[in-house]
Amino acid sequence: MKLLASGREADVYDVGDGRVLRRYRNGHRSVGDEALVMRHARQHGVRVPEVHRVAGGDLEMERIDGPTMVDAMVNGALPIDDGAVALASLHHDVHHVPALRSQAPEHRLLHLDLHPYNVIMATDGPVLIDWPHATDGPPDLDVAVTAVILAQVVHLPGPHAELAAAFLESFTTRVAPPPRQMIAAAATRRAADANLTPAEHAALPSAVAMLHQLFGHRTPDQSDS
Ligand SMILES: Nc1ncnc2c1ncn2[C@@H]1O[C@H](COP(=O)(O)OP(=O)(O)OP(=O)(O)O)[C@@H](O)[C@H]1O
Ligand SMILES: [Mg+2]
Repeated sequence: MKLLASGREADVYDVGDGRVLRRYRNGHRSVGDEALVMRHARQHGVRVPEVHRVAGGDLEMERIDGPTMVDAMVNGALPIDDGAVALASLHHDVHHVPALRSQAPEHRLLHLDLHPYNVIMATDGPVLIDWPHATDGPPDLDVAVTAVILAQVVHLPGPHAELAAAFLESFTTRVAPPPRQMIAAAATRRAADANLTPAEHAALPSAVAMLHQLFGHRTPDQSDS
């Protein structure tokens, strides 16, 4: 098996036949729920790799050929504004998918890790990968989580800080602005993520402050929603 990529929690192998195997390194994690969500999203028209086989921490799925959205923007093939439009459109698509379990009328399927590293630019359009965080909830939360992730990158020393700033500015004009408390909820979720590095933790307050400004939130001492 040829190793294609190694993420924070999983390794992805090319297993031939147009398929990849995504294998959690911590073997006890089950991918049953992840596969269920991916199939549900796909049935409702979201571009998601087709799931072929599930066993324990292994998920075998359709191989999607193409660069990630980040790589496509870095190499100039994809203008930043076009990337932002495509990411907003993926949010839109996911939030049209009915919730799997929640009965709350405003709840939909959420991806909750919907950022440009989790989008593969296939020749026939963007495909959304990496679904372990998906759950039911209010669409504003998904947009807020994406915005927090991008704003953290802006505030981290790294090669993509400027790209993230331009992307975030464009993205925020293409989505319904999440209310102030949704940014706080998204930041709390991020802070609870065991995979976050100390530098990413440290970037959270500046990220949140930037988003309040970008989304035009008033400060808490002004009456605000
Ligand atoms: N269906 C697929 N087809 C082709 N390549 C894939 C596919 N799924 C994942 N990959 C490759 O593996 C990489 C990591 O995948 P994924 O984001 O699902 O794993 P991860 O462990 O959660 O990674 P990270 O922690 O970096 O988010 C992707 O960037 C992509 O290069
Ligand atoms: Mg990923």
